[in-house]
Amino acid sequence: MVLRVAQQVDLSAYTGFGVSSRAAHFADITGEEELLQALAYGKQHHLPVFVLGGGTNVLFVRDFPGLILYMNWQGIDWLDEAGLVRTACGENWHSFVINCMTKGFHGLENLALIPGTVGAAPIQNIGAYGVELEQFLVEVRAVDTRTGRVALFDHAACEFAYRDSLFKQGAGRHLIVTHVTLQLSAHWQPNLSYQALRDALSSETPTAEQVFETVCQIRRSKLPDPAITGNAGSFFKNPVISSEKFAALQVDFANIPCFPTDDQDLVKVPAAWLLEQAGWKGRQHGRAAVSAKHALVLVNPGEATGEDIFLLAQEMSSSILQRFGIALQPEVQII
Ligand code: EPU
Repeated sequence: MVLRVAQQVDLSAYTGFGVSSRAAHFADITGEEELLQALAYGKQHHLPVFVLGGGTNVLFVRDFPGLILYMNWQGIDWLDEAGLVRTACGENWHSFVINCMTKGFHGLENLALIPGTVGAAPIQNIGAYGVELEQFLVEVRAVDTRTGRVALFDHAACEFAYRDSLFKQGAGRHLIVTHVTLQLSAHWQPNLSYQALRDALSSETPTAEQVFETVCQIRRSKLPDPAITGNAGSFFKNPVISSEKFAALQVDFANIPCFPTDDQDLVKVPAAWLLEQAGWKGRQHGRAAVSAKHALVLVNPGEATGEDIFLLAQEMSSSILQRFGIALQPEVQII
């Protein structure tokens, strides 16, 4: 297969924010051979390389002078009857969730409607409604951009944490995820650990379809649809602070919510609450805005540039630093 590289491609249709940004070079990757050829092309022309999946967690602030590898690699291998499944990186996450549920392989129902591709899921360790991807992850197959070599990473090697993994850190950034192997379950066992999900369900023993539908309903009611209003979900991570700092904040903000973490000296505070208190929810800021549905979601109402969104995010985080002494970290990858 001969690789074709397009020039000066507008990325607005390839990202959740839908902001205009041009990529100097753009390659549509549907398999191993093309990926290796594209890496060679990047080397030959001394280009910075950026790996793009569904573009649902990335903000291009300006034009990109390098090579975009658009990971359009499809394919699902159902490996056994017990729910072991290996999926190519370009599969759409939500369609994959439906596919698994329909086949009778369970676990991913709480992660319904998360935008993006399967390949991006372990990088971010996607999570929602009490479930994180890492709970099912057996192995990630990746290609090293520097050597073109393929490597396999088991669960421990992936170094998963909250919205974080090996693939976001240091040398791990040179790895391109090509396949993800998950162990799902042939037996349905609902995970109802998330209060908002429990509250929304009418039964204490819901079916997989009921949990799936309820998660979809909650997400649709709380989060704007990127196909209609450009956005990238939560823009910032929920900050983790010391219990001591939290107690000090409670003196001034008596009803500040928090969630426990694995470490009893640390608590997680919803960034959306901090932002709503600071008056950001639904606020228009030039051509960019904060969603009226959710204070953690920045949106492109139509005409915003990447820079407009970036500047708004900076103002939001500096106002939270001033008011609460908490530094918000972006969850979205800013290029
Ligand atoms: N809240 C507000 N104002 C708002 C929205 C929420 O004050 O406008 C407060 C409420 O107290 C609410 C709390 O924030 O109880 C938490 O809100 P929500 O349940 O919407 O969850 P979140 O912490 O804002 C996280 C993930 C989401 C995930 C949901 C559900 C992060 C950064 N975000 O959001 O993931 O869907 O939990 O599990 O961890 C994403 O990563 O892009 C994403 C959407």
